Amino acid sequence: MSLNNVQHLHQSFSEEEQKVQQLLSAMTLSEKIGQMSQFSGNEGFISPDLAEAVKAGKVGSVLNEVDVNVVNQLQHIAVNETRLGIPLLIGRDVIHGFKTIMPIPLGQAASWSKDLVKQGAKVAAIEAKTRGINWTFAPMIDISRDPRWGRIAESFGEDPFLSSVLGVAMVQGFQGNSLKDKGSIAACAKHFAGYGASESGRDYNTANIPENELRNVYLPPFKAVADAGVATFMASFSDLNGVPASGNEWLMKQVLRKEWQYQGFVVSDWDSIRQLSVHGFTQDDKQSAYEAVNAGIDMEMVSSTYQNHIEDLIADGKLIIAQINTMVANILTVKFKLGLFENPFTNQDDLPKVLNQQHLAIAKQSALQSCVLLKNSANTLPINLNKTNSIAVIGPLANDGYEQLGTWIFDGEGKDSKNCLDAIKDVVNGDAEIHFEQALSNTRSKDTQYFTNAVATAEKSDVAILFLGEESILSGEAHCRSNIDLPGCQEQLIEAIAKTNTPIILVVMAGRPLTLTNIIDKVDSVLYAWHPGTMGGPAIADLLFGKQSPSGKLPVTFPRNVGQIPMYYAHKHTGKPASQDMYVHMDDIPQRAPQTSLGMAATHLDTHFSPLFPFGFGLSYTHFKYQNLLLSTDKLKFNQPLKVTVEVLNTGDIDADEIVQLYLRDLVGSVTRPVKELKGFERVHIKAGETKTVTFTLDTKDLAFFDRNMRFNAEPGEFLLWIGGNCEAQLMASFSLEEEH
Ligand code: BGC
Repeated sequence: MSLNNVQHLHQSFSEEEQKVQQLLSAMTLSEKIGQMSQFSGNEGFISPDLAEAVKAGKVGSVLNEVDVNVVNQLQHIAVNETRLGIPLLIGRDVIHGFKTIMPIPLGQAASWSKDLVKQGAKVAAIEAKTRGINWTFAPMIDISRDPRWGRIAESFGEDPFLSSVLGVAMVQGFQGNSLKDKGSIAACAKHFAGYGASESGRDYNTANIPENELRNVYLPPFKAVADAGVATFMASFSDLNGVPASGNEWLMKQVLRKEWQYQGFVVSDWDSIRQLSVHGFTQDDKQSAYEAVNAGIDMEMVSSTYQNHIEDLIADGKLIIAQINTMVANILTVKFKLGLFENPFTNQDDLPKVLNQQHLAIAKQSALQSCVLLKNSANTLPINLNKTNSIAVIGPLANDGYEQLGTWIFDGEGKDSKNCLDAIKDVVNGDAEIHFEQALSNTRSKDTQYFTNAVATAEKSDVAILFLGEESILSGEAHCRSNIDLPGCQEQLIEAIAKTNTPIILVVMAGRPLTLTNIIDKVDSVLYAWHPGTMGGPAIADLLFGKQSPSGKLPVTFPRNVGQIPMYYAHKHTGKPASQDMYVHMDDIPQRAPQTSLGMAATHLDTHFSPLFPFGFGLSYTHFKYQNLLLSTDKLKFNQPLKVTVEVLNTGDIDADEIVQLYLRDLVGSVTRPVKELKGFERVHIKAGETKTVTFTLDTKDLAFFDRNMRFNAEPGEFLLWIGGNCEAQLMASFSLEEEH
């Protein structure tokens, strides 16, 4: 390379890149490996080992330290007592709030509100920043189609489009306009990739996903956040098609770096590089370090295969220093972008207080919009206080501030929550008697001794509100279930109370879709609240008493039973699709019916082929009518936008939000296409009696998919398009994408 070329190259480097290159050229190999190593903190103090490692330049990042004084002290050692003074990344799982806890991500997804998801992440970033945290391990954007999997709680559900939109919103909330802003922290897209497809919904299990499905379903949210500038990625624990993600060169290099041109850095999951040998992918830690570096996992979380083996691997000629330089540069670039070199220390006075009124208001709004009304017979809801003299509040989740927070709340505390019982008392304000009976010590309890009290309480009341579901510990990482009915003897409790004939309103708090088949006919109304977070109580009380209408919609299909799983709306049509006219239940089959007499279709004999509640579903206290679906053309050319309009009419007598959803079907594809795919949605507020026109614009890329040669293309042909309030919308139009000339 001539001198001229070198100068030219330098000019094209940004100022940040130049700083990175300068620093890099001053670093020893040991210091470089240090930057690639993340250590676990001690939560509240600095152990001599950690202090020594930081001082020796062996640490690039620390996770799980939230005492601001300790964090400042760690930064002080890194900045003032090491040779090069490189500040630390301080990581933490701030998944759905820090002190002010928002609904679990699956609940936030049910709001279909990118504004609220963004605001919630902003609140979390500001609060975490008060402790010196500058990096969160969120958003989790694993497509989750198996409610047995405990980590579905952390996800945005089953749909690539919804997860992409909300994933980007969450990244924007955490990272702000600039990572240097006071309230911004670096985000992390996880778990790359395919973790949600863990076999049998068992955490950490193998994922086998054909490349075409991987690209069409599992990767789009990751591509979306990469394009949106997410600072970091995390490799998944799982084995993807035989190659664990932490050693998966194809995924990290070919897809992430080459095809997507991703510029941030990749961190392993906790100990996942060492676990490469547990998978049986490598024979020892040295080979694990080799495979992980070779794949491009820039930073190792917690295990120390990099510390122990990179130098030898370089000496052996297996790795070359250029690989290490690239990885360290990726990490340093994020540190520069965060402004850590200028401002390594945290002054709490620079930031708003945690749990302030504004943060709580956002948490309440998020909880309000995430609750989904699944059933409302005879308009049992909202409760009319003019006609109600007494209310029974029953169940272990009615007044449990901790359990309403959900999984991954390392820093959230039950004492800061507003629970449902207190909130109901506030809203009722003496206008009706409230009788409380906890009935069960927790959701798993099988002790029925208090059922008689619960039944008596319901009997003497005009309406019974039951707060049931799952405690926080029953979902989240490593908390998977093979049976997803209401646990313990909660179903029996419902049955006992149902005998009183007092109308039952069931409020479910849970980290996943539960199978409600056994009890759905025994209750009058069901409000699905997920784990609603700090402000769950006031939000739920407002909905129960009609101060607001429920407006959440399901981000995931609710199966009738576990045997239907995997069950998702965007399935393929098959060659023998299930249909109502061919459906026979096994109880109705005549004895010795000939083998083919039932017809041949993709159904089960012992349950209907439909879900209990479809994706996108959610009721309101009003009704919406969809009409006048219009397309700008029915013969679309490539690269011509398609404008779609629809009128949505609020036919009831209260103002409310509706989530208008647009679905597409590509009738013929060179690989088979899903029966429906979400391609647009909008939350709109419509006053009683008002009609709103909602407009969507689709581009050719919205019609595109990865074909059998893994090319991303739209194919000419016929499309069907539906708009409505859930994935079973009936209002339909069609158009064709014309051949290119
Ligand atoms: C989880 C990650 C998390 C990490 C750090 C792992 O066990 O899979 O999602 O970010 O721990 O706590």
